[in-house]
Amino acid sequence: MVDLKSIPDDKESLDSYEVNNIFHSWCYQPTQAPLRVVSAKGTRFVTEDGRERLDFSSCFVSHNIGHQDPRVVEAICDQAKTLCSFAPTMSTKPRALLGKMLEEITPGDLSRSFISLGGTEANEAAVKICHQYTGCRRIIGRYRSYHGGTAASMTLSVGDSRGWIQVTGGTEVVPVPQPYCYRCMFGHKYPECDLRCVKYIDEVIELEGGGERVGGIICEPVTGANGIIVPPPEYFPELRRICDKHGVLLIADEVMSGFGRTGKWFAVDHWDIVPDIISMAKGITCGYVPLGATVVRKHIGDRFKEQFFSHGATYAGHALACAAAVRVIQIYQEDNLIENSAKMGEYLLDKAMELKDKHPCIGDVRGIGLFVGLELVKNRKTREPIIPVSARIKPGMNPKLEVAKKLVELGMIAMAANPGNVIAMAPPLIVTKDEIDEGVSIMDKALEVADKYVEE
Ligand SMILES: Cc1ncc(COP(=O)(O)O)c(C=O)c1O
Repeated sequence: MVDLKSIPDDKESLDSYEVNNIFHSWCYQPTQAPLRVVSAKGTRFVTEDGRERLDFSSCFVSHNIGHQDPRVVEAICDQAKTLCSFAPTMSTKPRALLGKMLEEITPGDLSRSFISLGGTEANEAAVKICHQYTGCRRIIGRYRSYHGGTAASMTLSVGDSRGWIQVTGGTEVVPVPQPYCYRCMFGHKYPECDLRCVKYIDEVIELEGGGERVGGIICEPVTGANGIIVPPPEYFPELRRICDKHGVLLIADEVMSGFGRTGKWFAVDHWDIVPDIISMAKGITCGYVPLGATVVRKHIGDRFKEQFFSHGATYAGHALACAAAVRVIQIYQEDNLIENSAKMGEYLLDKAMELKDKHPCIGDVRGIGLFVGLELVKNRKTREPIIPVSARIKPGMNPKLEVAKKLVELGMIAMAANPGNVIAMAPPLIVTKDEIDEGVSIMDKALEVADKYVEE
């Protein structure tokens, strides 16, 4: 047995541990270690070679308030000195406070929260609550969505009495299209389409057995990883009406779009609708400590006074994470970050539109708040994607990854390794006009790589 204190930690050794001992997410396991980040501050981060770069991805759209804010570090340290965590059967001050804050910032009567450790878990809880509340295991999901990375863990917990309460058999998913106007699956054009995509959902619910069989529909209000898809303004009010008509729960996955990313606390606030359940993570603690939350409307929460709530976790409502969330949420308000996201978002969108004039590889530019995507095409007229969707899981390089690589070389990271053909710019909400100019000019140079793949 090696003396664990004597494991070498020089650069070469650390690189070899990365390559041999660590699973890297959603990729062929690398043969070269990625750049090692040693520090970060505000909108920038520093790698081991001493180089500083701009973070236009906010680390998968999580670090909304920016890196290493001393106010959050202090809140975490204070909490750590007092009480890092305790069993979730007992109360802690930060968990209770966070519960109340979430009631305050979410729309309508969303009021009771299950607090977990991340976005995937927040969605698992949302779907399980939907199953338990409605008694249905059928859920509508939309193509080009991402809701998380776990398998249906409860279904695998065979013989555990907690599972007896579960609606058995896990989740049955019925897929429907997104309101993706640039590539409408019905071949329609907005607004002449009369929102066929949402009317279709009405029909699908009917055909799948209505509210008797369909428990809910899960949607990202602004789709993130699959391409910054902003729905037309009528979409969510109409979807809310359809869900009410059938008694189907509307689950908003705001893991990426929440906490000011789109210029409002939550993306659903743009359309004044109240979902039945909101799942959230990322910007709730901005990655300072992992945390996710699933917030439900009052009547749903109240049901579980009479019905067994069949969900839980050892670290549910972890005190350290809740203390971070409480401080982060105050900072959004103290520093007017949601307003800054709306204002800087307009500036960023205008600048991104200018990129479209210069680069034939850009087929579409869309966004809301500091959440702006550039969709890359081979040909603007035919809208042929610059890479097929399947290219994401093929080994080797592709034009989008080449742009990502170029960005890093030039001094910036953006959201470029996600599925589809969209490169997204999502800087921290503290970003300034000068930083947007700097980031967009780096993007301008990097896109030259993709222009070479244009076939006209
Ligand atoms: C919309 C959405 N939902 C859920 C998740 C999963 O969150 P996590 O990675 O924290 O588990 C993500 C992650 O990117 C996401 O974008």
